[in-house]
Amino acid sequence: MNEDFLPIQGTDHIEFYVGNAKQAAAYYQHAFGFQQIAYAGPETGVRDRASYVLKQGKVVFVLTSALRPDSPIAEHVHLHGDGVKVLALTVADAEAAFRETTTRGAEPVAEPKRLKDEHGEVVTSSIKTYGDTVHTFVERRDYSGAFLPGYHPVTPEVSVTPVGFKYVDHCVGNVYLGEMNRWVEFYEKVMGFRLLVTFDDKDISTEYSALMSKVVSNGNGYIKFPINEPAEGKRKSQIEEYLEFYNGPGVQHIALATDDIVKTVSELRKRGVGFLHVPEAYYDDIPDRVGDIDEPLDPLRKLNILIDRDDEGYLLQIFTRPVTDRPTVFYEIIQRKGATSFGKGNFKALFEAIEREQALRGNL
Ligand code: FE2
Repeated sequence: MNEDFLPIQGTDHIEFYVGNAKQAAAYYQHAFGFQQIAYAGPETGVRDRASYVLKQGKVVFVLTSALRPDSPIAEHVHLHGDGVKVLALTVADAEAAFRETTTRGAEPVAEPKRLKDEHGEVVTSSIKTYGDTVHTFVERRDYSGAFLPGYHPVTPEVSVTPVGFKYVDHCVGNVYLGEMNRWVEFYEKVMGFRLLVTFDDKDISTEYSALMSKVVSNGNGYIKFPINEPAEGKRKSQIEEYLEFYNGPGVQHIALATDDIVKTVSELRKRGVGFLHVPEAYYDDIPDRVGDIDEPLDPLRKLNILIDRDDEGYLLQIFTRPVTDRPTVFYEIIQRKGATSFGKGNFKALFEAIEREQALRGNL
């Protein structure tokens, strides 16, 4: 087997461009239980933007807003609404990551640069992926600051209670019809990922619409990127709805892992986070389909948590409604009990749930 030319240590952070980062930060603190750890903006000498850095477990979100109308951040929000701009990956060598990927055809966004402050040094570089989304490689050379040089640590003024998010399990991208294979090839050739699994429109279809999906993963399996494209159906698929409202390809959902999904989802519901609803009948064949599980079925049913089994174990999962006004970005909460798959057994129930909501929006 070839040597991994792009060793990745994990998801470093995910940066969102949003209309009002101050208020988005409050939502992620109060509803999702993230703690603010750092800030950059006019008060710290940054003139064109404000960025709030939030953390829970290993999950780090950066929420960034433009301060001026001619900013590329404002343009991004104008086009896409609030959405993911940067999927940042922690690497041992950001210069090598840039060189290896750009010589294999990646489109450069930012050349390697050294960022320094009294807490040490970080090297970053960036390349383009689907749509206006970017991968930033982050090399942390024993950096001991709150986030990155330029960001000031924040002493939290509000106390937040975490809901149990541990790490980013996977990040899903939506691309146009006919482009999925091109992006799978990009991850294979340019980033050294491998194809993990393919779902065709027979796996993922309802009476009305269909989609296709391929999952790529890096060498050590820490990073998993499913890529979806719409497939022909009788009505508009959820992927087409996303592409229309996001105005192009982009990140559709981020799956956050928890060790106790019942506790996590109970908390999130209490704090007002909305989830997709799957009908009661979904649970009728669960004992036959998934067999014995550690959790009592009743709380899972009450919280509307879905269950699926593969050869290696089972998983528990649930999907939020979009967290923006545009029907675009949403979250998956996932607890893996051995299973390494993505809940294929739940696709039909889920997509029907999404379509009921699409219909309410007048987009089916
Ligand atoms: Fe997912």
